[in-house]
Amino acid sequence: MKVTVVGAGNVGATCANVIAHKELVREVILLDIKEGIAEGKALDIWQTSGVNNYDTRVTGVTNDYSKTAGSDVVVITSGLPRKPGMSRDDLISTNAEIVKSVTENIIKHSPDTILIVVSNPLDVMTYCAYVSSKLPSTKVMGMAGILDTARYRAFLAEALDCSPKDISAMLLGGHGDTMVPLPRYTTVSGIPVTELIDEDKLTAIVERTKKGGGELVALMGTSAWYAPGAAAAQMVESILRDQKRIFPVCTWLDGEYGQKEIYLGVPVVLGRKGIEKIIELKLNEDEMNLLNESSKAVREVMEVFDKLNSK
Ligand code: NAI
Ligand code: 2OP
Repeated sequence: MKVTVVGAGNVGATCANVIAHKELVREVILLDIKEGIAEGKALDIWQTSGVNNYDTRVTGVTNDYSKTAGSDVVVITSGLPRKPGMSRDDLISTNAEIVKSVTENIIKHSPDTILIVVSNPLDVMTYCAYVSSKLPSTKVMGMAGILDTARYRAFLAEALDCSPKDISAMLLGGHGDTMVPLPRYTTVSGIPVTELIDEDKLTAIVERTKKGGGELVALMGTSAWYAPGAAAAQMVESILRDQKRIFPVCTWLDGEYGQKEIYLGVPVVLGRKGIEKIIELKLNEDEMNLLNESSKAVREVMEVFDKLNSK
């Protein structure tokens, strides 16, 4: 089995590194447009194999898509990251061009692959890859929800002084400040989180989660990579090992949750065929209103993309 990661920047290199360490496949191709960067990072990762005892070969290439042929899964991380003061949506015109051309090149050599998009603005870049690839929607998805719930779980673990392993959480909506963490579907070893933490503290954690990406941009001057790279690798793992794990994934909705023809984060079963099932939760009125707000925000950026794409 083979995985390609496009973009050997912070997120792409981290993702390739995690995939190699987990020995998910025999071969990982890391591709970048910048001469030498993918080759260098792949070589550096490969040289950890003897130290960390794994044998997945990571190979770097500069824009040579022939080397990506026959990939089972492709992770697209190419594109500009946020700088302080920018929203994810500010990236749209540059990243749409990049994601479109990358997708078209990938599909020429791996027509049946499964695509996981990471580039921002996430929901609309996933839509861009869907439109450009012409793959069935079950095979084109975006990574955001695993990262956003991981942040939420980390903040909760700190507040409760417990292990994040015991925290199970679900989140809906777009990858932006309108995302919808769901306290009603958050448990700690089966105990509803609301029994363990004050409402005010929980509300503060939900708000911090929504702005979790921005918090890191403000600290580092660019966006995060360890958690995003690991989250994308977890999606690759669930697909290639056919684990059928249930994760929040940016998915094409065609009526589910009252949303039509839009990519949004919802819980899905992730297996060898890609998105194998969309799980529809019974939302209360407040949760539904928040989801509608989030979908409105994503649709506004979709319209910008549709205009750019029709030129
Ligand atoms: P980075 O700047 O470190 O890496 C991006 C890489 O893409 C660079 O090496 C660049 O040369 C490459 N690239 C640009 N155009 C390309 C093309 N046409 N073909 C191949 N490679 C190309 O950025 P970083 O931090 O890795 O972030 C990548 C993207 O992921 C950004 O759009 C960022 O906003 C997004 N992101 C999304 C997250 C999510 O939760 N969905 C989380 C973190 C980042
Ligand atoms: C993040 O959430 C910026 O999408 C990026 O870290």
